[in-house]
Amino acid sequence: MNKKNAELKIGDKVYEFPIIGGTESEYAIDISSLRSKTGFVTIDKGFKNTGSTESGITFIDGEKGILRYRGYDIDELAQKSNFLEVAYLLIYGELPKTEDYNVWKDNIVKHTLVHEDVKSILDGFPSNSHPMGVLSSLVSSLTAFYPKSLDPNRSSDEINGTIKRILAKLPTIAAWSYRKRLRLPVVYPKNELDYCSNFLNMMFSMPSEDYEINPIHAEALDKLLILHADHEQNCSTATVRVVGSSHASIYASVSAGINALWGPKHGGANQGVIEMLEMIKEDNCDYKKYIAKSKDKNDDFRLMGFGHRVYKNFDPRAKIIKNIASDVLNSLGVNDPVLDIAQELEAIALKDDYFVSRKLYPNVDFYSGIIYKALNIPVQMFTVMFALGRLPGWLAQWKEMRENNEPIGRPRQIYTGATKREFVSLRNR
Ligand code: ACO
Repeated sequence: MNKKNAELKIGDKVYEFPIIGGTESEYAIDISSLRSKTGFVTIDKGFKNTGSTESGITFIDGEKGILRYRGYDIDELAQKSNFLEVAYLLIYGELPKTEDYNVWKDNIVKHTLVHEDVKSILDGFPSNSHPMGVLSSLVSSLTAFYPKSLDPNRSSDEINGTIKRILAKLPTIAAWSYRKRLRLPVVYPKNELDYCSNFLNMMFSMPSEDYEINPIHAEALDKLLILHADHEQNCSTATVRVVGSSHASIYASVSAGINALWGPKHGGANQGVIEMLEMIKEDNCDYKKYIAKSKDKNDDFRLMGFGHRVYKNFDPRAKIIKNIASDVLNSLGVNDPVLDIAQELEAIALKDDYFVSRKLYPNVDFYSGIIYKALNIPVQMFTVMFALGRLPGWLAQWKEMRENNEPIGRPRQIYTGATKREFVSLRNR
């Protein structure tokens, strides 16, 4: 390899493929001409070594535990920024100037209300529906209220309008899906409140009593949303890009991303972690049993919130979240035994050769649920919280993909089914 071309030998023939490099000294072999040159395709189940795109949004070095949005370290953004500012940064590439930020924020605040007919759709769901299913359905339904969003040739101004609209409306829809579960009347957005306070108000305020937003809750939530805001080509983001590559609308693409996030191997793990910790608590903290179960290949049980496709050192978000978790619990005066169980479980796993040799560390989901719990957010809403945080990343990635005019996502396969055979009609079978 000379860092310009890579050679591939198949039989006696040698083929050359260009090497492309990124700004952080990452390299890829561009095999887009592989099939036309050689007749072969590559196979890489789960895309473990396949780059689907070149992207300028988020950089991760999984070996060193680095995560940066648009060049800014995640811990600096979590400490010094706020969620709407980070959303602007991810979507438009630069930190906003004060004036731009104020316009951005005002615009989002103005669009928080959803059409009254959305409520009728919400009413059609059984009240025990999982809020993730409700969220993805209602986001998809927004195409009906904004049919122009379906036009693939919309101007960038119109696309920016949709971006602001969905950022503004997702907290409203999310909070309403929770109220629906409790068979409570929905609470309308209060535009004088900041993004997170508005969400908390729509979640928890009651007609008969004054609900006071605890600034510790709002600040912790804002930080959690920042930490979840983007994570390059993960399962849900790759889904958003692939769906958008067919020129489907932003609403349709984000709705697909929400569904991809829902699974327990991805965003659904935060719900799985708390359920697992509660189970361990009920089982008299029998850590040994659960560590053994997670290592047993005949048992489906995995240590939820542990392991990551990219991080093979530590997940920098998990470190920050662990600190926020103990700060929040301390400042709220909450003593949650589940935090002690999580810390103990982490300590045991990090000394266990199974986890050490496989480089399995706590991921973003391991401690986030403990914070959500302290903020009174019910377990079934945990993945919804993740979706609220991930939205700017999905939007930034969708926008980048369309602006770069990327081709439709369409992988190849190796067919392993039956070869040609004669059809036998039903009566003769
Ligand atoms: N508990 C026990 N063993 C594990 C775990 C775990 N949490 N995670 C990985 N392993 C083991 C696997 O069994 C495998 O062992 P083997 O080599 O003996 O077969 C090895 O570690 C590698 O794991 P893979 O599943 O091949 O790794 P992959 O990159 O495909 O999966 C994933 C990553 C899905 C995150 C996995 O670690 C997992 O299921 N973790 C638990 C669920 C979770 O926390 N998901 C959230 C991820 S972060 C996010 O999406 C926001």
